[in-house]
Amino acid sequence: MKPLSRSALSRRTFLAASAAAGAALPFRGTLADGSNSFILRAAPDRARLVPEPWGETDIWCYGGTVPGPEIRIQQGDRLCIEVENARDEETTVHWHGMRVPNTMDGVPHLTQTPIAPGGRFTYEFDAVDAGTFWYHPHQRSFEQVGRGLYGALIVEEAEPPRVDRDLTWILDDWRLTEEAEIAGDFGGFMDKSHAGRLGNTVTINGQVPEALAVRSGERIRLRLINAANARIFALDFGALTPQVIALDGQPVTPHAPSGRDRVLIGPAMRVDLILDMTGAPGERVTVSDRFYAGNNFHLVDLTYADEPLRDEPPAWSVLLPSNPLPEPDLTNALRHQVTFTGGMMGGMVERQMGITGEGRMMGNDIMGMMLGEDIWFVNGIAAEGHILDPMLALERDRSHVIAMTNATAFHYPIHLHGHSFRVLSRNGQPTTHREWQDTVLMAPRERIEIAFVADNPGDWMYHCHILEHQAGGMMGVIRVA
Ligand code: C2O
Ligand code: CU
Repeated sequence: MKPLSRSALSRRTFLAASAAAGAALPFRGTLADGSNSFILRAAPDRARLVPEPWGETDIWCYGGTVPGPEIRIQQGDRLCIEVENARDEETTVHWHGMRVPNTMDGVPHLTQTPIAPGGRFTYEFDAVDAGTFWYHPHQRSFEQVGRGLYGALIVEEAEPPRVDRDLTWILDDWRLTEEAEIAGDFGGFMDKSHAGRLGNTVTINGQVPEALAVRSGERIRLRLINAANARIFALDFGALTPQVIALDGQPVTPHAPSGRDRVLIGPAMRVDLILDMTGAPGERVTVSDRFYAGNNFHLVDLTYADEPLRDEPPAWSVLLPSNPLPEPDLTNALRHQVTFTGGMMGGMVERQMGITGEGRMMGNDIMGMMLGEDIWFVNGIAAEGHILDPMLALERDRSHVIAMTNATAFHYPIHLHGHSFRVLSRNGQPTTHREWQDTVLMAPRERIEIAFVADNPGDWMYHCHILEHQAGGMMGVIRVA
């Protein structure tokens, strides 16, 4: 089984793009019955992910499309979603980043009984925060999400910053065969023990993208959502200078991306950008991904129409109104430590670097790796199956600081359910944009401190969002009581 070559795909994309007259906008599903009650049906289907001459792909999806329908509501609205499971295995839906009551969080065996084949479950909660969120199953997610079960959940601000267009790009990464079918090797040991299931075909909103038509002077709010199992993106917008206005749905001090102007986005993370189209009519800008060493992957072209929209970028404010997040009290916060260890290269790297102390691999890790599929460890424990025992118990309504250490050779997007947290520091350096996140990308060997008020009672998942790592033990439960 030989994967489709990415270069072949991007060349085709490029040709298709230059040929397209008024190049199409990325596909976007919509729900427009006016109410905030939705039915989401999870079922097998087929979709055109890649252009001709490849065929369609067997997928699993919500509402007949990948991504599933974009749910768009107003901040403060109550949302009522009936999920129908038309597949032959159990499922649940998790509302990633939404601060919902514990019983609505969609974690099988922890917050609810899984939805059986043919079964239904109604999720109902208020949208407390405005921002860019997404939904996906939390049952065997490495395969259910990997085959296409996900969608965007956009909560609009009462007074959003003015833009000409508000676009959502859900990024995904598929491992396709020569016949454009999904390679069925989900949860393999190689993927679990290394960087996760990386694919060979990147899609935006479920399609290998064609060019996006833009106009000089136009202002776009671009909501990026990374729905890939494992792929991290570092997006380069060429001559454009994006302004980051929100991370994981939560407003930040508007700033240009650091790190050679690339927008870094790990699995499950969201980045809202303001893009001012500063190019001239007829020009073209290429958006590319440069995360992995030696990689410069052409993602999509932005092509300027002949008619400018305006001569100068608009002077409108890019400030987002803040969300009602409780500010942690750092002087009186309780402190906790979490160390991540494991991975196939863990021992090797450890030995080469002669690391001791905190970064030392625990005896458990090696044992676990030899005995079976326990590959990743959170404070020395690899979670198996349905974990219920909390690894940390946090006093409710108190402020807590969690100092996290990545003692491995891999990147992790670490996600906490039910709360958003302030990212205070990285390797001892204070952060500078007032970042509130629900998923924070940790570089190899990085130490990150997060802080939050534990104001949402219940048992909450805390895990790596490289879904193969999660399946390989990299998860735990944090109890707020
Ligand atoms: Cu996006 Cu525990 O989930
Ligand atoms: Cu991980």
